[in-house]
Amino acid sequence: MRKRLLPAAVVLAPLALAGALMAQDAPRLRGPEPFTEEQDAPPMARPITNDVRVRRNYPDQPPIIPHSIDGYALDLNANKCMSCHARRFTEQSQAPMISVTHYQDREGNTLGGLAARRYVCTTCHVTQTEARPLVPNRFRDMDELTEPERQPGGRNNR
Ligand code: HEC
Ligand code: HEC
Repeated sequence: MRKRLLPAAVVLAPLALAGALMAQDAPRLRGPEPFTEEQDAPPMARPITNDVRVRRNYPDQPPIIPHSIDGYALDLNANKCMSCHARRFTEQSQAPMISVTHYQDREGNTLGGLAARRYVCTTCHVTQTEARPLVPNRFRDMDELTEPERQPGGRNNR
């Protein structure tokens, strides 16, 4: 009897230990409730729609969308985004024009219109919400690392 129990304990104890360690390390995205208990979904976070263009974290970052995109069609037949951001509509919409990269195919040829690979704008551009971050973010802007005096409010700001 004793001989049979022993191997089980040898196998299970490290597993239990690893389980405990993982549970400690994993961010608790669900909050304090155990996962076996059903909870109400949290309320939908409100999108930020203040129309203030947001600084990019690095030059090639797709800028985030500072306006509402609720109900904007983006499918095979219609691309609502282009009704303001296409070159020919920017005068009436006062929206920034899609940049030249959006006219280039993957061979680097510049096309007359939007390149197919840029059609689905929301694969790269997203709105933001006021949701509390689920995990801490320690991102630091490159300027902050290399040239602290060029920070907003700093000397030599360009
Ligand atoms: C009714 C016109 C209109 C439509 C439709 C529209 N936009 Fe905009 N967009 C604007 C304007 C105007 C701005 C400038 C900031 C502002 O006023 O919100 C802007 C800003 C942006 C920016 C920020 C650019 C930057 O340099 O910071 C992005 C990204 C963007 N829009 C993406 C989209 C996407 C993606 C869609 C479709 C889902 C879309 N927009 C639909 C008018 C529009
Ligand atoms: C594959 C990713 C991707 C897709 C898809 C995409 N963009 Fe972009 N977009 C970017 C990146 C990256 C930048 C910043 C660098 C650049 O200009 O290429 C950008 C820049 C922009 C800008 C700022 C231009 C400027 O000169 O300040 C606007 C506006 C914009 N995109 C709108 C759109 C719209 C509207 C669509 C859909 C028709 C779209 N983008 C699709 C990646 C994308």
